[in-house]
Amino acid sequence: MNKKIHKNMRGNKVEILSKLSLLVTMMIITMVKSSSLNYSDALTKSILFFEGQRSGPLPPSQRMKWRKDSALNDGSDIYMDMVGGYYDAGDNVKFNFPMAFTTTLLAWSVIEFGDLMGPDLQHAIEAIRWGTDYFLKATKSPNIVIGQVGDPNSDHGCWERPEDMDTSRKTYFVSQDRPGSEVSAEIAAALAASSIALNNIDSLYSNLLLDRAKLVFDFANNYRGSYNDSIGDGACPFYCDINGYMDELVWGAAWLYKASNDQSYLNFVKSNMQFIRSIDDFGWDSKDAGINILASQWAMKDPSNQNPFITNADNFICHLLPDSPNKRVTYSKGGLLFIPGPSNMQHVASYSFLLIVYARYMEANNKIVNCGDVVAKPYDLDNLAKTQVDYVLGNNPLGMSYMVGYGEKYPQKIHHRGSIIPSIDVYPGHIGCRDGDKYFQSETPNINVLTGAIVGGPADDDSFQDSRYNVSQSEPTTYINAPFVGVFAYFKQLNST
Ligand SMILES: *[C@@H]1O[C@H](CO)[C@@H](O)[C@H](O)[C@H]1NC(C)=O
Ligand SMILES: *[C@@H]1O[C@H](CO)[C@@H](O)[C@H](O)[C@H]1NC(C)=O
Ligand SMILES: *[C@@H]1O[C@H](CO)[C@@H](O)[C@H](O)[C@H]1NC(C)=O
Repeated sequence: MNKKIHKNMRGNKVEILSKLSLLVTMMIITMVKSSSLNYSDALTKSILFFEGQRSGPLPPSQRMKWRKDSALNDGSDIYMDMVGGYYDAGDNVKFNFPMAFTTTLLAWSVIEFGDLMGPDLQHAIEAIRWGTDYFLKATKSPNIVIGQVGDPNSDHGCWERPEDMDTSRKTYFVSQDRPGSEVSAEIAAALAASSIALNNIDSLYSNLLLDRAKLVFDFANNYRGSYNDSIGDGACPFYCDINGYMDELVWGAAWLYKASNDQSYLNFVKSNMQFIRSIDDFGWDSKDAGINILASQWAMKDPSNQNPFITNADNFICHLLPDSPNKRVTYSKGGLLFIPGPSNMQHVASYSFLLIVYARYMEANNKIVNCGDVVAKPYDLDNLAKTQVDYVLGNNPLGMSYMVGYGEKYPQKIHHRGSIIPSIDVYPGHIGCRDGDKYFQSETPNINVLTGAIVGGPADDDSFQDSRYNVSQSEPTTYINAPFVGVFAYFKQLNST
């Protein structure tokens, strides 16, 4: 493949723009020939992973058979039904803040790339509904939002299958007196985004989600405060909201605008952009870059909305592209994007997603990005995302895939309770709090294959320990997989051309 960024060809802009679509198509075809990775397989598996994280009674359609019903009394401590939702990662807590972000990104994946998912679309929709059914329960009482279920300290003190849990399933909630604007506004975003994703499939349910999203957003906005304080040691240090809650309020409003077309939400977004701290971050804590990319879609169509969205989004892209003079991130020798902090793959996932979404918006609007004297076209963004996704699937110095069950060589000792301890099918007896330790400590691979799980990934020297003790490297999380669902769907085109 040729250079990742094309130098500005002065004076040729008009011609370049008119040929952009054709060029992108040709580039995609060029990519096919060099690609031996099976994105279609990766897509299927990335969605299947969510079945392994399911909490509550499992439906007959459950494909990941080694998992069974679990946590059937969640919510009973406060006389509510909080059964369902997703376990967050390798533990058995239902952290609603990252779970809502996961659901928002699953929905965004379907909104942008659902038309490319083929038979997997149905499973992606199911994965979204598994989240929204639970969030409808979490927001059932006006001005109360359930923030999480399961005491993380109690949970982390045991190594148990979800099916055996006897740890504290405490239900944490936020209210008018003890608000939680970040967790509430992210749930509003998830409900609004999902209402768009499900609109053609079940319009009644979609309307229900949108109506609820509006109420939950109002609650988040009218009673401001952080769940750091209201939920306290249930939230911190596990999913402490470091970045503040203004980004979630703006993000929630942006999704509500997209879902409802109600101008008041766009006004909210515009008048609160001054409180958004960065243009670069995007993940369960910070929604900053995502806000600009999302808003750029309508900003590109209305020049009066260019600032700050497009300016910010362009700068974000220039901070990422390897050949940009304004690059701020680092890449390993093997080519993987690195952002400081644990579970690096979460950033690889969310940034790759934003790259391809922005590339699509650019393409639809004949737009390019100027990074100093370097010009980036949609192809350059696609190509960067592709180098990331290819690294994840095996095109890396170790020649291994970081998705469990994909390819020949993949992580065998992931940090995940259900995956490590024998299934109920094999060992029906109760395995108590510390009885799972022997499986954790064993040198043998995990017993149950959590197909599709993408782990935290290698160190910045491209090395990988494949050790259950190395949580940052070997733990999968729902918010790593969710953006990749969209990314795999997009690159799946390469397999079918
Ligand atoms: C990709 O994987 C799917 C599912 O495993 C399989 O059916 C298909 O044949 C594979 N495609 C290629 C090109 O290997
Ligand atoms: C949440 O707590 C963390 C850690 O104490 C702190 O850095 C952050 O500012 C808090 N966020 C909010 C919104 O209060
Ligand atoms: C995880 O592995 C990386 C290098 O591969 C190492 O730098 C780090 O210290 C390890 N962490 C733990 C907790 O073992």
